[in-house]
Amino acid sequence: MYKTHTCGELRPEHENQIVTLAGWVHHYRLLGGIAFIVLRDRFGLVQVVSDPQRYPQAAQEMENVRAEWVIQVKGRVRLRPPDQVNPRMATGAVEVEAHEVKVLNPAKPLPFLVSREDETVDEAVRLKYRYLDLRRQRMQRNLELRHRVIKFMRDYLDARGFLEIETPILFKATPEGARDYLVPSRLYPGQFYALPQSPQQLKQLLMVAGVERYFQIARCFRDEDQRGDRQPEFTQLDIEMAFVERDDVLHLVEDLFTALIPAVAPHKRLLASPWPRLTYAEAIERYGSDKPDLRFGLELWEATDLFAQSTFRVFQDAIQQGGVIKGICVPGAATFTRKELDQLTEEAQRLGARGLVSLVLAPDGTKGSGAKFVQESELQALRARSGAQQGDLLLLVADQRPIANKVLGGLRLFLRDRLKLADPQVMAFAWITDFPMFEWNEEEQKWDAAHHPFTMPRLEDLEKFETDPASILSEAYDMVCNGYELASGSIRIHRREIQSKVFSLLGIDEETARRKFGHMLEAFEYGAPPHGGIAPGIDRLVMLLADEPSIREVIAFPKNSAARDVMADAPSPVEPRQLQELHIRIVE
Ligand code: AMO
Repeated sequence: MYKTHTCGELRPEHENQIVTLAGWVHHYRLLGGIAFIVLRDRFGLVQVVSDPQRYPQAAQEMENVRAEWVIQVKGRVRLRPPDQVNPRMATGAVEVEAHEVKVLNPAKPLPFLVSREDETVDEAVRLKYRYLDLRRQRMQRNLELRHRVIKFMRDYLDARGFLEIETPILFKATPEGARDYLVPSRLYPGQFYALPQSPQQLKQLLMVAGVERYFQIARCFRDEDQRGDRQPEFTQLDIEMAFVERDDVLHLVEDLFTALIPAVAPHKRLLASPWPRLTYAEAIERYGSDKPDLRFGLELWEATDLFAQSTFRVFQDAIQQGGVIKGICVPGAATFTRKELDQLTEEAQRLGARGLVSLVLAPDGTKGSGAKFVQESELQALRARSGAQQGDLLLLVADQRPIANKVLGGLRLFLRDRLKLADPQVMAFAWITDFPMFEWNEEEQKWDAAHHPFTMPRLEDLEKFETDPASILSEAYDMVCNGYELASGSIRIHRREIQSKVFSLLGIDEETARRKFGHMLEAFEYGAPPHGGIAPGIDRLVMLLADEPSIREVIAFPKNSAARDVMADAPSPVEPRQLQELHIRIVE
């Protein structure tokens, strides 16, 4: 038997028991001829002490070990002398007197020390030696949290009649707006499987199959630009339900998450229950984003009407060109220095603004780049509109509406980080609804599906297909939290003629639709029930719960920010013979 106990479980009540432990040498030192080892396994740490007089052989072994050697220790649990009790260690009241020590495997000198949690190690090194990085407490904690989250989801949905069903990874392209990862077929020269960007088609087919309540902890694959909250492969809690309306789906997920947070992350607080709901249009107008961070204020307001008579050229021009004047009020920020205001302007320009107008409501008069150009009466009206007080800072952008919203939305987040406006322990969940159904693709001069082409348009908008596609809203919804999009979903099209209408607006002709989605279209002709679903991203959720800055920290073996696996060195070239079998030739 390798161990009778784990390192983390020993307590004073184990006094005088003979135990066998096995684990890694977390830390070692020699003090006055006595060897002290902190032994680590997944369950914790415990101090092991040598006794050279009575157990000389074990003492000798202990003097030879180094960091991260794997050892087995047999010995007696004893209480530490009161002055040596370590209150920061769960096992700090006891230690193990080593009677026998066996080296199970030595370790080479390490690229970084597992025990030095506070040491920052370059991410490239951490990812290359991920198996060592994962030994660290921070990573162990994240792995465990992720496990708890997924287990909670499984149990919760199981108790409500959902079936977990696996769907194929080798499949056909499912459009979610990214590029596909393709897998060449050896048996069918020139043909490819596509890895699913999500199980979207399959979960809908499961509804046609009569499953009614499906979920899956589903791996998705998307070849897209990487960011801190994006990976080429990631995991969704994929859900689909039949005979539901939008609110049935929203309630299920809201209840699930409301129960999940206290169970897995009791130090987190929900901002509001029930969760706020905003339409897409409202979110954009009030927060300049379709994934607003609701943990703090700094809402956008519009002031175009207040400046209708303005003599200020910047405002006049914007209004004449059909633009708007919008702004935010930053409470207490009249103390910002010139340099800080310049930084805000730079940030605004980086976000696409031509400029930023500032009004500093200082006790000794109004200052800032707009002070000279804004009349007293306009200022009064602005204060009434924005609720600004003396000591506050007003920031205004005059531009086309989408640009003004984007810039102010970005400044809001910039100021959030700068002024620490958002409580990191708060989870501000919210629903965003009533998304536009289509987006105009300027580059390719065509309509794209804003969610995916299986999303149901609002029935009352069906007649606008011919007249005004831009104004068609869909039955799609997003769940957002703290400025991240955590989930997307929709009620789906289950009627053939509506699907055809959508395909035709997207420029997908009958023949292409048959080739790409023929199986789905046909399935929908055999009695498809009304259905809808959603897919929360598990990586992003765990990242927020673990207070981590990137989803790479909550994935055991992530790709780096350039989409490479630097541990295994993938992607990598393959043998010419393999290429030949796959009927593939590399073009330089
Ligand atoms: P969508 O494409 O919006 O919807 O994805 C849903 C959620 O998955 C997460 N996510 C990602 N996480 C990490 N890395 C990525 N590259 C990545 N891309 C997406 C996000 C996102 O909110 N089939 C639909 C869902 C449905 O309609 O039911 C879908 O996949 O948290």
